[in-house]
Amino acid sequence: MFRILILTTVVTLCCVSFAAALEVFYPADGTYINRSEVLVIKAGEGVDGLVVELNGESSDLIDISGEQYRAAFQDMLILRPEFDPGKNQIKVRAYKHGEKVAETEVKFFLRTDQLAPPPEGYRRFLMHVPEKEAACVACHNLNPTEADISNPSPQKNPCVTCHRGLLRPKWTHGPAGAFECGACHDLQNEKGRFRERKINADLCTECHQDIVEKYMQAEFVHGPVEAGLCNTCHDSHATPYRSQLVAETNQLCLGCHETIDDGIHVVRGVTGRPHPLSGPKDPNRPKRKFSCVSCHNPHGGKGRYYFVDGIKGRFALCQKCHRK
Ligand code: HEC
Ligand code: HEC
Ligand code: HEC
Ligand code: HEC
Ligand code: HEC
Ligand code: HEC
Ligand code: HEC
Ligand code: HEC
Repeated sequence: MFRILILTTVVTLCCVSFAAALEVFYPADGTYINRSEVLVIKAGEGVDGLVVELNGESSDLIDISGEQYRAAFQDMLILRPEFDPGKNQIKVRAYKHGEKVAETEVKFFLRTDQLAPPPEGYRRFLMHVPEKEAACVACHNLNPTEADISNPSPQKNPCVTCHRGLLRPKWTHGPAGAFECGACHDLQNEKGRFRERKINADLCTECHQDIVEKYMQAEFVHGPVEAGLCNTCHDSHATPYRSQLVAETNQLCLGCHETIDDGIHVVRGVTGRPHPLSGPKDPNRPKRKFSCVSCHNPHGGKGRYYFVDGIKGRFALCQKCHRK
């Protein structure tokens, strides 16, 4: 369950020593996070081993006393656990020569539904503020230049060294996959350090002007597209779903159209089975799954219901897949 970072590079020993006590740095107590990526713990001076318990499941004693380990990480422990959706609890016990010297506990929330409002009672973890970065600057480049933040080498790009998990899912967005973080993130802007310059259609237009114009000019434009909310459905980095959708297609649509799944969509007959809304194969696009977008264009169309391929009427739609 826990995977300790394996060192691939020799890192020069640096000179700062930390006198701080045991601390779960990230995810910090009382915060919510958007994805399960890393767990960052500062062990405190002299600590040589840690036991990490996630939601009741405990690790073995993790030895952080090795010479090579100390040279690279000092008293930092970075793990890649799988957090549960929703509430999580982590307990950490610190040991020195086999004796427990400290323990701490944090509660945080993993928000997996990006369409839902932030969970009540938890605040957002904000990393790129001077107080927090101070604990990391000794080993990470947190004062990069414009050129650095789009460095195409994953070893050298200062953003990617900490955020490579963001790019791990299968479907990667072009510029993020090319490590061009600087295409969308600024060193400093009014929102804060390293934040995205713009979001939604304003940002997408910078590179996809033709596409955005085409979508906006359709006779009938889908509500969230018209509002420019591209990021509501598309992630800018990478996700497990084609077109970097933030969720599996039907789940994404049903997130806002809950009632469609009620068994009477498409065919309203009192007899017979309901029309399938998902399946392994779209008769129109043999390499794609059958889903809401087999019938509806997600951005808009020529008719009120945005049927695919500019189809306006119901009958013509049926014919696409049910030719006699
Ligand atoms: C004593 C040196 C040191 C300090 C201090 C340090 N790190 Fe690191 N960190 C490393 C090294 C070495 C790596 C591995 C770099 C690599 O593989 O490219 C790393 C990698 C990471 C990763 C990537 C994990 C992954 O997904 O592979 C994250 C996230 C991270 N550090 C966060 C932090 C944060 C946050 C802080 C400040 C609280 C911090 N580090 C402070 C040495 C340090
Ligand atoms: C020392 C490791 C580290 C480095 C280097 C780093 N980040 Fe982060 N960053 C984090 C952590 C940890 C978080 C909090 C978790 C999250 O939101 O993914 C974070 C959060 C963010 C956020 C959300 C806002 C915030 O302040 O919490 C943005 C945007 C961001 N990073 C962009 C960048 C960019 C762009 C770079 C390169 C210039 C970069 N980061 C370099 C560790 C790092
Ligand atoms: C195409 C534009 C684009 C590119 C390229 C891009 N980002 Fe982002 N990034 C965004 C936007 C927009 C957000 C705001 C979150 C949202 O609404 O999706 C964001 C948010 C983030 C966050 C905060 C995530 C969170 O959960 O809040 C981090 C961390 C981040 N980006 C890191 C990076 C890194 C590292 C790179 C380079 C490998 C990168 N980004 C490349 C557009 C981009
Ligand atoms: C810095 C330039 C840049 C920005 C900004 C940008 N993109 Fe992209 N996008 C690309 C590139 C390059 C590709 C890959 C080449 C291609 O397939 O067109 C791509 C591909 C895509 C794809 C996959 C296309 C396909 O055929 O599957 C989607 C979806 C996408 N972008 C959506 C967005 C959205 C939504 C935004 C705004 C949040 C955005 N992009 C902002 C450059 C950008
Ligand atoms: C309601 C959700 C939703 C919104 C909002 C949305 N998209 Fe999409 N987008 C999708 C889905 C679903 C697909 C995949 C379609 C498919 O598989 O046939 C997609 C596909 C794409 C593609 C790949 C090419 C294509 O047409 O299939 C691009 C590029 C794209 N979207 C850009 C954007 C941009 C730019 C915006 C904002 C103006 C936007 N999208 C807003 C759901 C959305
Ligand atoms: C973020 C919320 C949201 C998501 C996600 C979303 N929609 Fe919508 N949808 C809307 C809004 C808002 C409207 C416009 C309100 C209206 O006209 O009923 C709309 C309208 C529609 C309509 C036309 C309804 C009518 O009566 O004219 C169809 C069809 C539709 N959406 C299909 C989809 C499909 C397919 C998906 C998934 C690719 C999807 N929607 C995802 C919010 C969303
Ligand atoms: C086999 C084709 C087909 C599939 C698959 C399909 N729809 Fe529809 N949808 C239609 C037709 C046809 C209409 C027009 C209204 C009618 O005739 O019942 C419609 C209408 C709608 C409307 C507007 C009217 C209403 O009932 O609210 C929404 C919203 C909608 N669909 C969303 C979805 C979502 C979400 C999915 C996936 C879960 C989906 N559709 C899957 C064919 C389809
Ligand atoms: C994108 C392709 C597609 C479109 C468009 C489509 N269907 Fe279907 N339909 C299917 C698939 C796939 C099945 C399930 C496999 C099969 O029976 O062929 C199905 C099954 C059916 C069934 C049989 C249900 C059962 O008992 O198994 C009926 C009736 C039906 N569709 C009616 C319609 C009507 C009416 C329309 C137009 C409003 C329509 N379909 C549009 C793909 C489509």
